[in-house]
Amino acid sequence: MTILRYEEIGAALLGWYDRQARSLPWRVAPADRLAGQNPDPYRVWLSEIMLQQTTVASVRDYFLRFTARWPDVRSLAAADDAEVMGEWAGLGYYARARNLLKCARMIVSDHAGRFPEAREALLALPGIGPYTAAAIVAIAHDTPATVVDGNVERVVARLFCIETPQPAAKPQLTALAARLTPQRRAGDHAQAMMDLGATICTPRDPGCDDCPLARACLARARGLAAHLPNRVAKPAKPIRHGIAYVTMRSDGAFLLEKRPAKGLLGGMLGWPGTDWSEQRPEPTPPIRANWQRCETEVRHAFTHFKLRLTVYCALVPTGAHPRCGQFVTRRRFRPSDLPTLMRKAYVAARPVFEND
Ligand code: ADE
Repeated sequence: MTILRYEEIGAALLGWYDRQARSLPWRVAPADRLAGQNPDPYRVWLSEIMLQQTTVASVRDYFLRFTARWPDVRSLAAADDAEVMGEWAGLGYYARARNLLKCARMIVSDHAGRFPEAREALLALPGIGPYTAAAIVAIAHDTPATVVDGNVERVVARLFCIETPQPAAKPQLTALAARLTPQRRAGDHAQAMMDLGATICTPRDPGCDDCPLARACLARARGLAAHLPNRVAKPAKPIRHGIAYVTMRSDGAFLLEKRPAKGLLGGMLGWPGTDWSEQRPEPTPPIRANWQRCETEVRHAFTHFKLRLTVYCALVPTGAHPRCGQFVTRRRFRPSDLPTLMRKAYVAARPVFEND
């Protein structure tokens, strides 16, 4: 165990990042950055919005598809809402996609298509909170800003052996992370902290033998690295129930509806159905038909509850009139446009139609 000054910890971390930085599609590698290449703020912003509550592994392909289709903020701002929601389908937390579009349009209308550099101006944009503003300031503009996500909190809690349980420890962890943030290379420092948390200082079984900060790590010296940060046990999530109706017309079209803009899966395509409530809901079929219950009940976890979705299926004739939603022809129907929950319902329903 060696007591290192904050600057020495920062230098050890940057040295490691120079050798080990992950190659990520939105990232400018440290050597290119030192050679003067600047990251595109659009790509930094887009990646940070996608990475909120989502892993690097899940985001990678979405990011590549988005940037191939909408390579800059002007093209995204001009995009059709439904196409953007369709590309986002499966990433979850759909308010992010609605705010993404709003933000792109405000950048074009109010900022002449250029991302603001000041934290306060960024914070005034939809979908950009303190974490994302700090990440854009640091990574895109290389201005000192402290970027604190769950990975960074874990690294700092271990480095300084903070035993106060989360979330109460947040202010202290943020203050310590700020002490570590260097004046130069703030963007690389932020990304190095994220990489260390994601690849070495992992939640379980941290790879302390490979850690560039092992000599300075107080939790490691006390044998506590794998146990920190401490957490207050979370209460179990309540269970809600709902019904989804998957209707196929005899020409192969599916009955879908766009969900209301506000609320869960807002603005996304979905199967008509009931509200989701702790009591089992009354059936509200969208069309008169001979409904058949699917064997598989769909299970899905939202942030604040777990959903058990019963799926009913029916085949209806071509002249049938639904009470809600619209038939989408087989050619235009793409399961990949559906959010994950609705895709699971489709998968549950498929055997029924295949048997017909
Ligand atoms: N997680 C959140 N932002 C990230 C970034 N820029 N690089 C890697 N992981 C991240």
